[in-house]
Amino acid sequence: MASATKVGILTAGGDSPGLNAAIRGFGKAAIGYGWDVVGYRDGFRGLAEDRRVKLNKAGLAGILTIGGTVLGTSRDKPHRMVVDGETRDMTETIVANYRKAGLSALVCIGGGGTAKNALRLSKAGLNVITLPKTIDFDLAMTDATIGFATALQIATDAIDRLHSTAHSHHRIIVAELMGHGAGWLTLGAGLAGGADVILIPEIPYTVGSIASAIRRRVKAGTNFSIVAVAEGARSAEDAKALAAAAMRVEKAPDRSAKEAARAEFDLLELQHVGNTLRLAHQLEQLTGLESRVSILGYVQRGGTPSPLDRLLATRVGSAAADLVNDGTFGVMVAARGDTTEAVPLSEVAGKRNVVPIDHPWLTAARHVGTCLGD
Ligand code: F6P
Repeated sequence: MASATKVGILTAGGDSPGLNAAIRGFGKAAIGYGWDVVGYRDGFRGLAEDRRVKLNKAGLAGILTIGGTVLGTSRDKPHRMVVDGETRDMTETIVANYRKAGLSALVCIGGGGTAKNALRLSKAGLNVITLPKTIDFDLAMTDATIGFATALQIATDAIDRLHSTAHSHHRIIVAELMGHGAGWLTLGAGLAGGADVILIPEIPYTVGSIASAIRRRVKAGTNFSIVAVAEGARSAEDAKALAAAAMRVEKAPDRSAKEAARAEFDLLELQHVGNTLRLAHQLEQLTGLESRVSILGYVQRGGTPSPLDRLLATRVGSAAADLVNDGTFGVMVAARGDTTEAVPLSEVAGKRNVVPIDHPWLTAARHVGTCLGD
């Protein structure tokens, strides 16, 4: 794109290891094309507030291996941003700031929410490209997402470490992993770490079947068990109630009925807080084994990115500069095997990548005798 002289970049949504590698990958390639690069602070909020910083070669040096994002991030949405205590649609301000900065393109690094926001901005006239990032790997239309490989490594290490303490104390340890509504991280780490029970949102569980599996292990002489549970996993009963509540939201005839149905849904979701503790308690009661809980939390998305995430981030980051040069916008740079592909944002936004119930990781888990709670 001959007219591209200045390009912008921002990171949005939850942070993940590899964001800086992607900023560097895009930034260095853009500088190589001869363009100026500006980074916006704190995701879409920084764009709405016109808080930007010039990214030159020196600024991009030394960030490849650093976790988090040097630009900062936020979960703010362009069309629903709290400003001075009020929720406002900041799309027009964002478009004006983009024009004021003289940008030819904007690269947004983020997950599913970012894809939706980027699509809106693209419809508002901006030249937008997204890069796939999430430790949850729940983003559609890409073979990989920046952060997942590192989180998988961290979560697997944690399960390895929990094994020795569970074994020594003859306990059940219930380890809660992130993943939002998808089970990739828990299934991957659970399988790689040899968890005895793996519970994911895609397969509702019954406490009875988990307890039976643990009792069978005790009978066979193994009096400890590791249960890897995804934060979004639900019992069959809870999953049914939630699905019914979601249906009521969808079928609500008018706005006020929708709000009431949504409030009911949110309340059900809220009741899920503390579910992992409850599960551990129930398992203790049903098996007679002492139980403990370990919530891995934000450790899973902190720290140094793995080599695979650095490679992915550098690959998709530099590919985004090529797309700007070609004048291809309104797309996500998807990872496809060893290469990349530009996928229209309209095919990404609003979709979720969850674990298919016939996925080979699940088949393998069943083959090695892992209880999946069903
Ligand atoms: O989307 C990544 C993720 O880490 C999820 O697994 C988790 O549910 C969520 O972010 C928590 O993010 P935060 O508390 O930062 O909003």
